[in-house]
Amino acid sequence: EGSLTVAELAKKLGKEPSEIIKKLFMLGIMATINQDLDKDAIELICSDYGVEVEEKVVIDETDFESLEIVDDPADLVERPPVVTIMGHVDHGKTTLLDSIRNSKVTEQEAGGITQHIGAYQVVVNNKKITFLDTPGHEAFTTMRARGAQVTDIVILVVAADDGVMPQTVEAINHAKAANVPIVVAVNKIDKPTANPDRVMQELVEYNLVPEEWGGDTIYCKLSALTGEGIDNLLEMILLVSEMEELKANPNRRATGTVIEAKLDKGRGPVATLLVQSGTLRVGDPIVVGSTYGRVRAMTNDIGRRVKEAGPSMPVEITGLNDVPQAGDRFMVFEDEKKARQIGEARAQKQLLEQRSVKTRVSLDDLFEKI
Ligand code: GTP
Ligand code: MG
Repeated sequence: EGSLTVAELAKKLGKEPSEIIKKLFMLGIMATINQDLDKDAIELICSDYGVEVEEKVVIDETDFESLEIVDDPADLVERPPVVTIMGHVDHGKTTLLDSIRNSKVTEQEAGGITQHIGAYQVVVNNKKITFLDTPGHEAFTTMRARGAQVTDIVILVVAADDGVMPQTVEAINHAKAANVPIVVAVNKIDKPTANPDRVMQELVEYNLVPEEWGGDTIYCKLSALTGEGIDNLLEMILLVSEMEELKANPNRRATGTVIEAKLDKGRGPVATLLVQSGTLRVGDPIVVGSTYGRVRAMTNDIGRRVKEAGPSMPVEITGLNDVPQAGDRFMVFEDEKKARQIGEARAQKQLLEQRSVKTRVSLDDLFEKI
């Protein structure tokens, strides 16, 4: 760590503390023997003695969320965009998600059994798009509140027969706060009362100016019910994705975020993870939130067993010792022992935090009663 007292520094250098204090004085620094010296002062003294300071960076892997992932740009490759659908109640979010899923996914499924794992991928023009299956603002804000940013593009669904409504505005605000580009899906154009122009006019007030009006917001007129315009929407998503230059390094230990998790009677804790960097493999020692384990089985969004998952791919895994929470981050470690150590330390920390919150609450209660 960056600081040492005068006495500690003297000991390290094999000098008398008084000598160090004298030197510091000459350098214009008044110091006592037990005073902490900052990095600059330590470096000054050391260079005066001709000693080179070698900085040891202590990486706290327990707090792996705050570790910045630094990749050589040469290792980065294109990754699929991760898309969240938001919009006002009844404007057609679920219908749109299902419609996209059915048009693109079902044909690959042998039995046609669609299992919901909280996210799915579709293939458009040989490119993948990942959709988060939990529409609505709650999922988005919960994740963001927990520091996780998983969404690359927001699809804002606005019903053409209803126009901009309170939750439409809320969605815009969320997307803007997260600095995520918005593609507007003007839905329900099959309805006789549909008025897409009105939707565009209303949204101009929120700075979502359509391209055809000289702005840079993409509007897709569609019907989630009939399927009209959905292919175009998917192509536009790819276009935005290309402009965003979404990239990740697949050749490193995987990190990412929990989309959802539950306790399954037969399989134990089950978590849907979105890999954001690196490649996750069966057998990987992993810490997920404050849980840990080894990836035992891994299945994709259509229930098929897979051995690995690269960036932007959602997978369901088993093998954890407990159920993590949506929004928790995960990270793969070099061995099981390390994963266990880190996982236990995190669980301990979480427990302490929860306790201190509880104590505070009950103290408040107590004071209220008095
Ligand atoms: P919440 O989850 O309650 O916020 O609603 P939602 O946004 O998921 O809307 P949902 O997909 O449930 O659709 C609401 C209603 O609108 C349903 O009755 C749909 O069948 C209908 N609907 C959705 N899309 C279209 C469309 O393109 N055209 C028509 N005519 N109806 C639609
Ligand atoms: Mg819905």
